[in-house]
Amino acid sequence: MKLAPAHRIHGRIRLPGDKSISHRAALIAALAQDPSEISNFSTARDCSSTLSCLRELGVSIEQQNGKLRFPGNQKLRTPREPLDCGNSGSTMRILAGVLAGHDLAAELIGDESLSSRPMRRIIEPLELMGARIEATDGRPPLKIRGAREPHAITYKLPVASAQVKSAILFAGLNAAGRTTVIESSPSRDHTERLFNGFGVRVDTSSDLSVTLNGPARLDGGGITIPGDVSSAAFFVAAAMLLPESDLVIEGVGLNPTRAAFLNVFRSWGADISETDLETERKEPVGTIEVRGGVEAKPRDVDRILSGAMIPSLIDELPLLAVVGTQIKGGIEIRDAAELRLKESDRLATTARNLRAMGADVEELSDGIRVFGPTQLRGALIDAHGDHRIAMAFSVAALVAQGESEIRGSESAAVSFPEFFALLHSLTQR
Ligand code: S3P
Repeated sequence: MKLAPAHRIHGRIRLPGDKSISHRAALIAALAQDPSEISNFSTARDCSSTLSCLRELGVSIEQQNGKLRFPGNQKLRTPREPLDCGNSGSTMRILAGVLAGHDLAAELIGDESLSSRPMRRIIEPLELMGARIEATDGRPPLKIRGAREPHAITYKLPVASAQVKSAILFAGLNAAGRTTVIESSPSRDHTERLFNGFGVRVDTSSDLSVTLNGPARLDGGGITIPGDVSSAAFFVAAAMLLPESDLVIEGVGLNPTRAAFLNVFRSWGADISETDLETERKEPVGTIEVRGGVEAKPRDVDRILSGAMIPSLIDELPLLAVVGTQIKGGIEIRDAAELRLKESDRLATTARNLRAMGADVEELSDGIRVFGPTQLRGALIDAHGDHRIAMAFSVAALVAQGESEIRGSESAAVSFPEFFALLHSLTQR
């Protein structure tokens, strides 16, 4: 994909459904006692992986007029083939939790990137709940023997991870008693909200613990998945960096554990408003409006992203580093070593590509320091097969001098197949 510099971003859009919420909604609809209908399901390749795994487990899913219909009251069966999770960590980790709480055996496999990602973080708690899981040196493929009678546990997460928290909560649906997960910093809370929205009470307390009482059966019903705020982030960033931009994104998810990047952008001087707030099955949804331009030098305290705020910014951090090159005084990201364990080593791939564009960058063991503002220059970018790197550097290309080429741009389809077409339609040169 070749990208030329842009003058401004202009338009009014809606986005396909949120990837994280779509995974969970599909799993909930598969397990629910009543029929369910999901509208605006994510078009991400990762979410298709979740659907195909569910079909392989015997779940009937009808796709009609852009909606997914689940009949309800389905029983999962032992799959004939390994369940292919593709590139999707959420599919593998959260589905492992579902399977751990069912009396069946299954193998979970993934692509090269997923096969190198750490799974001990789910193996340990799910084995405590009674499942047996074989892995190779803590990595996929995973052979799971689910527990006939899973045990409820109280588990303190060693890493702040919504995928691990969710795996335990899904397994907890079939465990008698109180399943409690204690987090060190708050991670995205879609599972908690959707369980509550679909009739299974999950209590969250101020000490960052979440608890459900099992066994518990989810209700079915309808849901319209909010637009994906992590996909919106790329357009919001481009619009704030190109001074004459005006961009409106309607019907987008505004869950605070996901939309924290909006506050960061505002603290860096961006003009962003959130309006029309509603909720859908306890998930906040609304409209974002961005008017271009960042002039002021942010306060020092706002230029450092670290500590408890990191999990709510986790998928946007490469993009925040890109934006940081345009911020007076630059920015610093710390406490984000988890980024090395994503679809690529995102600290390394971000630093390498920023340097290729002429940015002054220091890669740290747990973060990155970006000096700014810098006039980026067009360059050959390597996405390293990582969707968020491909899209973050497309934004960099728009504010650079000269043309850029994104090698591996097709990886954007992992979360956002429409990205380049939409970017093209919003961009004025
Ligand atoms: C996700 C949680 C995050 C995030 C991923 C999606 C989820 O991973 O990076 O893109 O849907 O729960 P971790 O929970 O491992 O940090």
